[in-house]
Amino acid sequence: MITQTFGGGGGRTAVASRYINGSRVVKNLLKRVASLFISISIGFGVLPAVAEDGYELWLRYEQLEARPADAPRHVMAACAEPSETLQAALAEIERATESLLGNSLQSTDRLRSRTLVLASADCADAIDEADLPTTEAVGAEGFALRATKLNGKRVTLIAAQSDLGVLYGTFDYLQRMSRGEALTDLDVISRPKTKLRLLNHWDNLDRHVERGYAGQSIWDWHRLPDYLDPKYTDYARANASIGINGVSLTNVNADATVLTAPYLEKVAALADIFRPYGIRIYLTARFSAPMELGGLDTADPRDAEVQAWWQAKVDEIYAHVPDFGGFLVKANSEGQPGPQDYERSHAEGANMLATALAPHEGIVMWRAFVYSAEEPEDRVKQAYTEFVPLDGQFADNVLVQVKNGPLDFQPREPFHPLFGAMPETPLMMELQITKEYLGFSTHLAYLGTLWEEVLSADTHAEGEGTSVASVIDGVAQEYELTGMAGVANIGSDRNWSGSVFDQANWYAFGRLAWDPDASSEAIARDWVEQTLSRAPEVADEITGMMMGSREAVVNYMTPLGLTHLMGTGHHYGPAPWVDDLGRADWTPYYYHKATKDAVGFDRTETGSGAVDQYAGPVAQEWASLDTVPDELLLWFHRVPWDYQLSNGQTLWQELVNRYDRGVSAVGVMQAQWASLENEIDVERFAQVSAFLGIQHQEAIWWRDASIAYWQSVNGLPLPEGAEPPAHDLDHYKSLSFPNAPGQGE
Ligand code: GCU
Repeated sequence: MITQTFGGGGGRTAVASRYINGSRVVKNLLKRVASLFISISIGFGVLPAVAEDGYELWLRYEQLEARPADAPRHVMAACAEPSETLQAALAEIERATESLLGNSLQSTDRLRSRTLVLASADCADAIDEADLPTTEAVGAEGFALRATKLNGKRVTLIAAQSDLGVLYGTFDYLQRMSRGEALTDLDVISRPKTKLRLLNHWDNLDRHVERGYAGQSIWDWHRLPDYLDPKYTDYARANASIGINGVSLTNVNADATVLTAPYLEKVAALADIFRPYGIRIYLTARFSAPMELGGLDTADPRDAEVQAWWQAKVDEIYAHVPDFGGFLVKANSEGQPGPQDYERSHAEGANMLATALAPHEGIVMWRAFVYSAEEPEDRVKQAYTEFVPLDGQFADNVLVQVKNGPLDFQPREPFHPLFGAMPETPLMMELQITKEYLGFSTHLAYLGTLWEEVLSADTHAEGEGTSVASVIDGVAQEYELTGMAGVANIGSDRNWSGSVFDQANWYAFGRLAWDPDASSEAIARDWVEQTLSRAPEVADEITGMMMGSREAVVNYMTPLGLTHLMGTGHHYGPAPWVDDLGRADWTPYYYHKATKDAVGFDRTETGSGAVDQYAGPVAQEWASLDTVPDELLLWFHRVPWDYQLSNGQTLWQELVNRYDRGVSAVGVMQAQWASLENEIDVERFAQVSAFLGIQHQEAIWWRDASIAYWQSVNGLPLPEGAEPPAHDLDHYKSLSFPNAPGQGE
């Protein structure tokens, strides 16, 4: 189907990156050599049909059926010496149009009819500056796309204040072309609603990826800085194409070694590659680094030597990476060192680092994923309890990074009660793109719907209509700094994310970080059209599969507000029976508390009272059995097995129904996918089919193991017509997965 050959080790990427760094002559020469090689190879039958292995992500640029009437013929930057960023945009246009249109646009240095013109405040010699969009309209990173006339010539203008805006506009334009959209009357203005749009890699220096299901880390630390894998450039392209402008390279369970000089050289090499694409590097700072690297006997943030150590370290980092973004910190959480080790608050710890970064305009992202080592109260209450009293105490260059829900990236959680509760502290949202709790990379679960559910939830913090999105984009509580972070699902696998459909989650994260109010369905559809098929019926079918997929996972894993029932450590498969780990709040039992009579966690005033951390109207709705949605029932309430739901079913009947519904939804997805056999290339079709097969078996496993366990507790017969578990409970309990991928340290 597809005829492209670019890729990590392939000709196109090499050509493209040389185009950025080198001269046109070299580029043309290389291109000729590449095409000669291809014709010779094909001539001799050496080169196999190009495999559709997913490497190209949503930047596949599959050839259009016909050249669109409105397609430009020429391309130019509106200045003689385009920056590296504009050169990256030009290279992308060349790559994309060659593939989409059959031949690339011709470069020109004067305005002609049917020219695609790239212009910014720094590159506007060939146009009237009045044709640039204003800063009010597009900000520092936004762009305008316009089909217009300049000097009487019909052109398409990709214009912005900054060159980065032009690069974003270029990607947007090319993706529209790739989806087959009409471009004749193009008139688009787009600007990001958040400032920081970051991937957080949980990658260790030995290339193990914590909660990674796509192979090893893509950062080949051992070979850096001398070997620069071409994949790094494609990674930067992919991120820039969806507006991601920052990358934290290392695991939040941090290793201070990354702050040593040899590693900073490696980091600098990556920063050089990412810079033209507008991507800044961030690192995770281990709080005890002054002791581990500096030989100090304390890491107390009030200690002058500690402060001086961090200042010197930060200066050293900036000497290597002048546009270094700052630190991401996990402190006093799950055994990580932090300021509380010295009886200092999170704010004191964050501010000490912020002081060192401030002269360089760096920032601190301080994570709110904390829960006390002593388990004094309901775990989901703890971040709120610890952080709300600190509101207003953080330095201006600190953001508090809060997971979407109060527990830990479960298939469904209510939104985190901190959103809206810290008006004086910018909160950024942390989402998990990698599917630690949603079936790793083999289960098809499109997370756009999960994230949209959270972002559109009404916190009522500033009155009705204060969506979570409006908190994190800074509108509701006037945050200066704003952002979203996604825990990356990227690894060394050729398809980047472990599966084709997991690429969609990376894509959706970028799009939602740019616009937290965007529709997850529209995003899914765009991704499908760019990645799998433009044929309307095919795109409809696949978008439909994606839109229902996360609910299917919720149903077969944790229906009706149940949560955290996954196997210990690896989080693969069901283990609701586990009740005796080092601490109670690591066990599934802690979260469901099932007995013969009842199940669920009472978080109302008769229980932990966690519901009161939400604003009045939200708390009221969720605290009452009459109004709490079924989806959150057992999260907030403990109810008898024979409790009657609004649909007339008992809790037990409905639970079993939901498990069944989850399993059948996967069966339906299998059938839908099977019907597309002739529409999708062989390689990706086969992988998705196999993975759906795994998902189906595992959905049955989840259903059966869970039902067997609940029955062992409640002693109830199965509702009429329900199929009994395939095995007895002992069988499910006996399964063990010591080598499941991605486990934490
Ligand atoms: C989860 C995950 C850990 C991770 C932690 C975090 O608990 O299982 O691997 O370190 O989140 O977000 O810090």
